[in-house]
Amino acid sequence: MQLKQRRIAITGGFGTLGLAAVRAALDAGARVAAIDRADPPAGGLAQATCLGGVDLADPQAAKQALAAAADAMGGLDALVNIAGTFRYENVADGSVDTWDLLYRVNLRSAVAASQAALEHLQAGGRIINIGAASAVKAGAGVGAYTASKSGVMRFTEALAEELKERDITVNALLPSIIDTPPNRADMPKADFSRWVRPEQLADVIVFLLSEQSSAITGALIPVTGRV
Ligand SMILES: NC(=O)c1ccc[n+]([C@@H]2O[C@H](COP(=O)([O-])OP(=O)(O)OC[C@H]3O[C@@H](n4cnc5c(N)ncnc54)[C@H](OP(=O)(O)O)[C@@H]3O)[C@@H](O)[C@H]2O)c1
Repeated sequence: MQLKQRRIAITGGFGTLGLAAVRAALDAGARVAAIDRADPPAGGLAQATCLGGVDLADPQAAKQALAAAADAMGGLDALVNIAGTFRYENVADGSVDTWDLLYRVNLRSAVAASQAALEHLQAGGRIINIGAASAVKAGAGVGAYTASKSGVMRFTEALAEELKERDITVNALLPSIIDTPPNRADMPKADFSRWVRPEQLADVIVFLLSEQSSAITGALIPVTGRV
C-alpha cells in the first residue's frame, strides 16, 4: 500500500499505537507530523515532524498544532486521531470527574483536532478515529470509557455524513485489547497472542489513508485479533 508523499498528522503519535502508525505511514512513503501531549521520544522520530506538549482538547492549541503540522509538511491530506486514554472504575462508587476526563481526552480532543484539520483538508482527505470494540456494549468498570468511545463512534458517523459533499472520508477503527506493555503488565496471565498488535492496527490505518479506501466512509471497523 503506497501513501506517496501524502501529508498526515497523527495525534497521540508518541504512544504505543501512535508510534506504530507513524512508522507504518512513513514506511508507506507518507510525510508525517506526530502531535502529542507527551514529549517526543528521546532522539525524536526519524523523518517525522514532532509536536509535543500539545493538549488537543484545547481548541486553540489544536488549531495551532494542525497549522504547524500543515506548515511543516506543505499542506495536510489526513488526520489520524489516536490520542486517548483509559480508566477502569465502577460507576456506583466512582468519581464523576472520571466521566469528564475520558470525554475530554477521548472525544473532545478528536473533535477539536478534526475541526482544526478541516481548515486544511481538501477533496480526497481522510480522518481516522479510534473507537473501541468494548464500547459496543458496556460492562462493569468501563461505563465512562465506553461512553466516551461511543461518542467517538457517533462523532465519526456524523462527520462522515457532513463531509460527503467535500469528498473527505471519516472512519473509525474499533480495537479490542491491544498488545501493549501496560496491558501485558496489567494482565500477566492473558494469552497475548490473541490480542491485536499495534502493527496490525497500523496496517488498517494505512489502508484507510490510501487511495484504495476512497469508497469507505462512516465505517466503524472492528480490528480485534483473536479476542
Ligand atoms: N490500549 C488498548 O488496549 C486500547 C484498546 C482500544 C482502544 N484503544 C485506544 O487506542 C488509542 C491508543 O492507545 P495506546 O494504548 O497506544 O495509548 P497510549 O500509549 O497511552 O498513547 C496515547 C497518547 O495520547 C496522548 N494524549 C492523551 N491525551 C491527550 C491530549 N489531550 N492531547 C494530546 N495528546 C494526548 C498521551 O499522552 P500522555 O502520556 O501525556 O497522556 C499518549 O502519548 C487510544 O485512543 C485508546 O483509547 C486502546
